[in-house]
Amino acid sequence: MFETRDLCWLTKKVQNPGISTWYMTEESESPILKTIVREMPLLFEGISQSQEPDASITFSLSNKAETNGSYLIEKTMHGYRVTSGSYEGLLYGMYGLHRLLLAGDTTLFPYESRPDQNIRMVDHWDNYDGSIERGYAGNSIFYHNNSFRGDMELVMQYSRLLASVGINAVSINNVNVHKLESFFIKEEAITEIKKIAEIFSSYGIKTFLSINFAAPITVGGLATADPLSMEVGNWWKEVISNLYRIIPDFGGLLVKADSEGEPGPFTYGRNHDEGANMLARAIKPFGGLIIWRCFVYDCTQDWRDRSLDRARAAYDIFKDLDGCFEENAILQIKNGPIDFQIREPISPLFGALKKTNQILEFQITQEYTGHQKDICYLVPMWKEVLDFDTRHRDNDLVKHIIKENSPNKSCSGIAAVVNVGMDYNWTGNKLAQANLYGYGRLIWNNELSSQEISEEWTRLSFDLNDGDLRKVSSILTTSRDTYEDYTCPLSVGFMCKPSLHYGPDVDGYEYDKWGTYHYADRDGVGRDRTMATGTGFTRQYSEERCKEYESLETCPDELLLFFHHVPYTHVLHSGKTVIQHIYDTHFKGVEKVKEYQAIWDSLKEVLDEKAYENVKTRLIQQEKNATDWRDQVNTYFYRKSGIEDERGRRIFD
Ligand code: GCU
Repeated sequence: MFETRDLCWLTKKVQNPGISTWYMTEESESPILKTIVREMPLLFEGISQSQEPDASITFSLSNKAETNGSYLIEKTMHGYRVTSGSYEGLLYGMYGLHRLLLAGDTTLFPYESRPDQNIRMVDHWDNYDGSIERGYAGNSIFYHNNSFRGDMELVMQYSRLLASVGINAVSINNVNVHKLESFFIKEEAITEIKKIAEIFSSYGIKTFLSINFAAPITVGGLATADPLSMEVGNWWKEVISNLYRIIPDFGGLLVKADSEGEPGPFTYGRNHDEGANMLARAIKPFGGLIIWRCFVYDCTQDWRDRSLDRARAAYDIFKDLDGCFEENAILQIKNGPIDFQIREPISPLFGALKKTNQILEFQITQEYTGHQKDICYLVPMWKEVLDFDTRHRDNDLVKHIIKENSPNKSCSGIAAVVNVGMDYNWTGNKLAQANLYGYGRLIWNNELSSQEISEEWTRLSFDLNDGDLRKVSSILTTSRDTYEDYTCPLSVGFMCKPSLHYGPDVDGYEYDKWGTYHYADRDGVGRDRTMATGTGFTRQYSEERCKEYESLETCPDELLLFFHHVPYTHVLHSGKTVIQHIYDTHFKGVEKVKEYQAIWDSLKEVLDEKAYENVKTRLIQQEKNATDWRDQVNTYFYRKSGIEDERGRRIFD
């Protein structure tokens, strides 16, 4: 049966009888203006385009040199005027006005908005066969069975979702570029990609492709992919110039090199700046960007060898290359030093890289955070990252560093692995839409609070009174803590099922090659990363942060086991012992999920049935998952430590 796709937070139209006409001061062939023409009646009930300047909504291009998408909305005699220095800004202003009017707060005008980050990107990990690496909402919206799906209506619906929250860049294939996808840089595929890129472009979004560093060999038939080989450089120049001939406003290339089996410059004894710069030079004449990922580490470690520490890898490789990159090359740095766990410290590269363009990378898709079965609203975590003060300088917050430490400010921003697929509601779990929405809103305006965003999303997505709205929002805003409670005590990550990354398997990674060990024994648990007795990872932070993490006295509880190996009887700042904390949080996690179920059930009558059932089913699954985690983790540590729960609850032995 054909299912109409969920329009998500763009479901509601503004119903305001006073708003019946709109007018554009500009006449132009701009595809973005055409988008505005198409969108207006979808967002404002019964509105039509007018030839008269005194229409209820006027869009007006100002002479301001600002091209970053900023806009201003003013109240006028007749209604509203949206002004911007760019077409993108007018588009964002249109969505902004729609959102503000639905919020019903007219005291907000005049309303001026400018993006805090320049590049605001989502990355797809979609494969040509239609599968999505770490995708939890059905297959790819772009590909099917090793061909382009060709559903342009779908791409358009997706573009409007992205543009409505200010996203301006998208990468459309997996960073692990397999055999067939390596050929995306060839003419036949580019012609297909052009159709997708044109739609994105008409919503102010630039299209990027992930490439395989060994393509000169696998696609070009050369004997080498050595970045310093003239032949290789020329081959890339030709490939890139062909790409731009077909898609003149193409965004650029995203590269995962020397990581998890992907080829890279190390094969040829070259450094990562040499790899990135070769590509950056080839793409520069066309105004394109090279986004180079810092997720580089040895994934063939020997667990017996305690001298290796995966957390150190990115800094060890990239810190000394600070200042060595071309002006259109950007380093993309995951928020934490390991891999998108629900709790990690910040990557020490932030603040340490002072002369390099940078993009912070988040993960919206819930790989380690519940697979969009469990509810896990990630905005609180992203906010912590953005607000984190690295203390390299005074007031050295990550959200400022990204831009300030990038020599070319337009080449800085935030990217995230996205969470959408073919499921009718895009994200599998209806509540996971809040993560896509929240990501866009937060990276545009870094000052919004998690709660503001969750309430805004809930208001746009459901018809609820204020009390019920706050109930939904309360589930969202506490869900990250809850997921952390039952999966990741005191920052011990990776106790999940290997490869799958859902459900518990405490020792699943313990004797494996991935470098993610908790070292639990009968006396204690945690990874010693101190300078004094451990791997020395703490040294990679600013002096002040290093001191803080190095010492048991000052290390924050939630990061304790990331930095220290301590006895189960170690007393936390909270006053609890480590073992008691493990027991308590795991019991609490399950109780919280039961609370969510009760809250959700209480909303049955006021939610639409489809959304209600969608989340209800997943909450049942989440309870089962949380219970598995509780019982396996508690039993595991009880068996190791032999220490009873001081509250005498049931732990299996
Ligand atoms: C994680 C994830 C992989 C992915 C990788 C990356 O390790 O499990 O599937 O390829 O991150 O970010 O490149």
